[in-house]
Amino acid sequence: MALRLALASDHGGFTLKQHLVSALRARDLELLDLGPQTADSIDYPAKAKELCSAVLEDRAELGILLCGTGIGMSIAANRYLRIRAALCTDPFMARMAREHNDANVLVLGGRVLSPALAEEIVDVFLASSFEGGRHGRRVAMLDSP
Ligand code: RB5
Repeated sequence: MALRLALASDHGGFTLKQHLVSALRARDLELLDLGPQTADSIDYPAKAKELCSAVLEDRAELGILLCGTGIGMSIAANRYLRIRAALCTDPFMARMAREHNDANVLVLGGRVLSPALAEEIVDVFLASSFEGGRHGRRVAMLDSP
């Protein structure tokens, strides 16, 4: 069954989100584009909430959030219990985010990354999986601080 992947952005991440949605359509993925559909100004905490709800309600297994830097989206997303949002600026971080942190949300900065680098980061994030073991114990600790 195809992986269900949700995407959402604010205006700062809009152009890169649109690029990724187009690029990812060619892959074996079930995409849930939570918007926005225009570049109008929109508050990142509201879009983070929509995407985190989709992941927590199992409408998507993984999510991608984008704002200008990725910082606002990662702060917002990590307020939700069982959301592990990782702001990544290179493929190594994306691999570690999945293998060690079991990140369920990838956060990208639309004003930081080129489209090609963002695609590379997304590809590695989607191709990597959680190693479990000692990392499982640490991730479990996050949910019972
Ligand atoms: C919007 O201008 C910008 O503040 C937002 O996209 C994001 O970078 C916040 O962290």
